[in-house]
Amino acid sequence: QFLITGGNLQDSRDALQLAQTNDAFYSTVGCHPTRCGEFERNDPDQHLADLMKLVMENKEKVVAIGECGLDFDRLEFCPKETQLKYFAKQFDVAEETKLPMFLHCRNSHKEFLEIMKKNRDRCVGGVVHSFDGTKEEAATIIDLDLFIGINGCSLKTEANLEAMKSIPSDKLMIETDMPDAPWCGVKNTHAGSKYVKTTFPTKKKWEVGHCLKDRNEPCHIIQVMEIMAAVKEEDPLELANTIYNNTINIFFPNS
Ligand SMILES: *[C@@H]1O[C@H](CO)[C@@H](O)[C@H](O)[C@H]1NC(C)=O
Ligand SMILES: [Zn+2]
Repeated sequence: QFLITGGNLQDSRDALQLAQTNDAFYSTVGCHPTRCGEFERNDPDQHLADLMKLVMENKEKVVAIGECGLDFDRLEFCPKETQLKYFAKQFDVAEETKLPMFLHCRNSHKEFLEIMKKNRDRCVGGVVHSFDGTKEEAATIIDLDLFIGINGCSLKTEANLEAMKSIPSDKLMIETDMPDAPWCGVKNTHAGSKYVKTTFPTKKKWEVGHCLKDRNEPCHIIQVMEIMAAVKEEDPLELANTIYNNTINIFFPNS
């Protein structure tokens, strides 16, 4: 299954529309921290009600609330106060729909955890995606019984690899980072790239049967897996099965 992430209300509608084109596609509904200003463009309560309605009317396709969270690296898109307010608000949707959350936390660990702790019992669980924090930060996320999502951006430095290694396999998920694709692939300059075994025929200009140079695509998820298995010194197939099970249990519990 593919999980196609919504970044705001309109994005979530588009993601749903795409999800409806293939049995293997599913989507999320939520508002990304950098887009939270959109709550205040009109009536914030109505905006929240629109998100809620989109989930409730499409429960066969919408499997998570998000992405939502905090991003203090990109305050130019949305001020801190607005982000804090509407991250917290989206727990209303998670609570009402009983769906897991697809969470984003960038340079905002302390505030993210405060809101998360306060609201943890209002959501069934979720994943903090595109993780690039420290071992200690990983540990606090795990303490909250949340999963940690790893992509190419999570494997850039030796410190990233060490932090990833510290996360128990039964708390891990992997991703190509759909909303930010094509950006979060494994690059040759990344510390993790030396562990990549599988590569794909690639061209500078798109051609059938080829990937596009520097564009992250769903097939590249195996590279994330190969790095993780090598760094954790685990059997790749065993690790893949564990991560697959983690993902199914959270996002597709009825499948
Ligand atoms: C994954 O779940 C399946 C079905 O529940 C189980 O048979 C299998 O042993 C699990 N694999 C791992 C590695 O946890
Ligand atoms: Zn994100």
